Amino acid sequence: MAAKMGRNDPCWCGSGRKYKTCHAAFDDKIARFAQQGHKVPGHELIKTADQIAGIKESAKINIAVLDYVAEHIHEGMKASEIDSMVYRQTTAMGGYPAPLNYEGYPYSVCTSFNSQVCHGFPSEDVIIKSGDIVNVDCSTILNGYFSDSSRMFCIGEVSPQKKRLVKVAKECMEEGLAAMKPWGFLGDLGQAVNDHAKKNGYTVVREIGGHGVGLEFHEDPWVGYTTKQGTEMLLVPGMIITIEPMVNMGKADIFVDEVNKWEVYTEDGKPSAQWEIMVLVTEDGTEVLSW
Ligand code: MF3
Ligand code: CO
Repeated sequence: MAAKMGRNDPCWCGSGRKYKTCHAAFDDKIARFAQQGHKVPGHELIKTADQIAGIKESAKINIAVLDYVAEHIHEGMKASEIDSMVYRQTTAMGGYPAPLNYEGYPYSVCTSFNSQVCHGFPSEDVIIKSGDIVNVDCSTILNGYFSDSSRMFCIGEVSPQKKRLVKVAKECMEEGLAAMKPWGFLGDLGQAVNDHAKKNGYTVVREIGGHGVGLEFHEDPWVGYTTKQGTEMLLVPGMIITIEPMVNMGKADIFVDEVNKWEVYTEDGKPSAQWEIMVLVTEDGTEVLSW
């Protein structure tokens, strides 16, 4: 946390009000959690009203792009056509796809099919076929503000087993959201996600998680979904994180493609599903900004 502010200085949040009548009590409350040994967020993870407004504009594009994909995705299409759609729609609305060239990632979107867990390449040689379940993960930059969310699509005739996985993965994300609250902990949602997956006979990927988002693509905190209630970072109003658990039909173990170093698969070859939302912590609850 930054050096303590003078009580009559303008507040760090940019409201223009004096610190003592703005965020002083809020900072004191956070400090009490820190004294009790909890991990707490620094000011850099707490978005100002102006930043939240900018991030919401970015999210509007992200949602519209996923809506467009939902309308146009179909059997027989190449995954690379999803990539072109996402690039075209995002840029037409004035945004830029955050994945493109991010740490060397070569596409505008991730498309992860069946036993692919995440970061699948929407390449020319992937043909979308009946029976596939696919996650389309979109992220947008608008005026320097980032948004991120993903949805699952069931193509043609999907087996009841895979349909159930897709449904339960969505419920896991929703259970995580329901457990998320201001002055609660990240572990509250991790536990809710993992409990729901286990109850349904599934497992949750441990090594890859969600993240803070908004001013960067990936900010602190890292968000695990196998964590315990009452542990991990304190959540306070103004933080934005993603809820994006990867739920596996079989074992939780995964591996990364050795050649491209991006695409992640289940070790046992069984299907995996993921839904992602981007969520703001508010004074009295949460607000979903992108889905
Ligand atoms: N969109 C992914 C997430 O949910 C991140 C993808 S990184 C990329 O965090 F480079 F593959 F795009
Ligand atoms: Co994400």
